[in-house]
Amino acid sequence: MAAPVSNPFLEQNLAPVTEELTAYDLKVTGQLPEQLTGRYMRNGPNPMADVDPDRYHWFVGAGMVHGIRLEIGNARWYRNRWVRSPEVAASLGEPAPQSDWPAGHGAFAANTNVFAHNGKTIASVEAGFPPIELTDELETVKITNFDGTLPHAFSAHPKRDPHTGELHVMTYWWGWGNQLQYIVVGVDGRVKHTLDIPVPGGPMVHDIAITERYALVFDLPCVFSLEAATAGASLPYRWDNDYEARIGLLPRNGVAQDITWCPIDPCYIFHPMNAYDDGDSVVLDAVRHPRMFDRETRGPDEGAATLDRWVLNGIDGSSTHDTISDVAQEFPRVDERLIGQRHRFGYTAGIGQVFAQDALMKTDVDSGEVERRSDSDRYGYGEPVFIPRDAEAAEDDGWVMALRLDSQTGLSELAVIDAQRFDEDPVAVVHLPARVPNGFHGNWVPDRS
Ligand SMILES: [Fe+2]
Repeated sequence: MAAPVSNPFLEQNLAPVTEELTAYDLKVTGQLPEQLTGRYMRNGPNPMADVDPDRYHWFVGAGMVHGIRLEIGNARWYRNRWVRSPEVAASLGEPAPQSDWPAGHGAFAANTNVFAHNGKTIASVEAGFPPIELTDELETVKITNFDGTLPHAFSAHPKRDPHTGELHVMTYWWGWGNQLQYIVVGVDGRVKHTLDIPVPGGPMVHDIAITERYALVFDLPCVFSLEAATAGASLPYRWDNDYEARIGLLPRNGVAQDITWCPIDPCYIFHPMNAYDDGDSVVLDAVRHPRMFDRETRGPDEGAATLDRWVLNGIDGSSTHDTISDVAQEFPRVDERLIGQRHRFGYTAGIGQVFAQDALMKTDVDSGEVERRSDSDRYGYGEPVFIPRDAEAAEDDGWVMALRLDSQTGLSELAVIDAQRFDEDPVAVVHLPARVPNGFHGNWVPDRS
């Protein structure tokens, strides 16, 4: 008898949960700051029971959103819900979700991010699959096209310009061939600007960075592979040694011909921490992977991901590159009031083998000093998010919020940490009645938004 196939992206805290839960009035240790009234939500893959471990890629598991509602010092509820695609709904014995798109338009249970915009909660993913609108309580409303304004693809990673409130998005879809599309979504939730960007191949473009002047285009050597697609790969993107790695500086009101392309040494970037203008140049801090989907094609695991800085010249396309911190890490976030502007502090989750999430880190990118929470033997932390104490607070005056798995109980918690007392006990811990598998991205959505 053949040995059962194992897949590290289905094991330990990457193993899916099997139930949707709703729990009220959760136990809290410590004191939740009263200002924190709203929802913390996080999306991630949670495949349904019938996946083939031999073929399963972490990025294609059906999305499940976990949410915790905080209200004036109390933790009112926890919910987890699969995002409904037609396939997920069928598996659950439910009717197919409503869709704004014509019949036959591809749909997938968006599994990568969850955010709010124009008062709506949106689960999102990349690669041509549409965003899915949820209720405040995480039930699927419909597969959305933003009132008919979204041409086709969206992204998991819109960046909100803190001055305008608009979302800047870089999208890709294999069906376009050698082309990306830059999108701006207005504060009314409608796409207000699109720009097609020709590129030499079909790169996987996971994220975008913006500065006051530019949108950054990550044209990197993990590209659509017809060979992998033909072979039935669930995620047909592969490392290509022959594809030039470059970052484009697109003037935000410019056209594709205006882009300054800056060649860089081959690497892969899922996530910028932030970027900003500095004279003729752009400073980019981002997590650098040595390569992507080369040796390991079931998920990201190609050697240590480090926090690096590139300085990209907008005049001549030259660049410099340094490592800020060689501690293995991912999921970089900053104080989002500073998106596109100079930042000093960033927050990340440590990454062990096979994307195991472990320590929580705060990095001073000016000094290179890294504060690493010392409780990672017991707790595995997911992506952090920073919440300022108030609108006028200093850059790190506020809280870092993250889900963590308690290895002693096997249950997850929402930790709220004072960002200036980073290694002290959290000011509050919300105890959840379930394990939240390691996932991707989340956001704090205050009620006033
Ligand atoms: Fe991401």
